[in-house]
Amino acid sequence: MAAEPKIALVTGANRGIGLEVCRQLAGLGLRVILTARDPRRGAEAARLLGREGGDVTFCPLDVTDPASVDAAQAFVAQQFGRLDVLVNNGAIYPDDSVSLLDVPLATVDETLAVNLYGPLRLCRAFVPEMGRRGYGRVVNVSSSSGQLSTMGGGAGAYAISKAALNALTRVVAAEAGRSVKVNAVDPGWVRTDMGGPGAPRSVAQGADTIVWLATLPDSGPSGGFFRDRRPMDW
Ligand SMILES: NC(=O)c1ccc[n+]([C@@H]2O[C@H](COP(=O)([O-])OP(=O)(O)OC[C@H]3O[C@@H](n4cnc5c(N)ncnc54)[C@H](OP(=O)(O)O)[C@@H]3O)[C@@H](O)[C@H]2O)c1
Repeated sequence: MAAEPKIALVTGANRGIGLEVCRQLAGLGLRVILTARDPRRGAEAARLLGREGGDVTFCPLDVTDPASVDAAQAFVAQQFGRLDVLVNNGAIYPDDSVSLLDVPLATVDETLAVNLYGPLRLCRAFVPEMGRRGYGRVVNVSSSSGQLSTMGGGAGAYAISKAALNALTRVVAAEAGRSVKVNAVDPGWVRTDMGGPGAPRSVAQGADTIVWLATLPDSGPSGGFFRDRRPMDW
């Protein structure tokens, strides 16, 4: 008997790397819950992937809004009964060339709200049940900007948020239980609204390691930080 398809939820998936992750996961036969904070753009993105042949369902989700996370958790429970794969992809990058010593604290707050507390909320909503069921894959889309070993100045709010997301990855990996694999990934510099048109990588290249981590076998790693399917320094 064929194995049941895995069920995956991706945040910030109406455009960019998140949309491509949904496309690739659907292409591998997973049932994909494409989430976005804008219902019109999210539903349109899900329809696009549906026309390409994917099993893709839209669910509205603003990761900064506890009520929205609760509603998404209830939607998943009612429509799918479980979640196997969580991709924390949605993020903002608001402070490109502003010094951390000057950037308004409201900007730091807003960045942490999306890039750190968002993934934390989603982990709290889904990881405990993954552990109880004995299967889970969590991929936190981080960045080389969050790599402490190479960290310099610039985009400090974003850098702090991604370094903290890496720490969250380690802690949740340790607490989730052996059956739930929790990893962070740097997709590289990718041509999206965030990466800009001059970035060297396509969204397909940016999504590759995310999808690999989302579909790891039981023998795969947990608590690591990866680029191009290889471990990288924290
Ligand atoms: N592009 C790069 O070069 C690069 C490099 C390193 C890491 N990354 C990481 O890769 C991931 C995807 O980046 P990208 O380049 O695809 O960015 P993007 O094109 O700017 O897309 C970001 C996505 O996040 C969503 N988002 C923002 N705030 C949200 C919220 N409160 N709740 C839910 N979703 C929210 C956006 O939704 P809206 O459309 O509603 O704004 C959008 O769908 C991010 O984690 C980013 O930090 C990207």
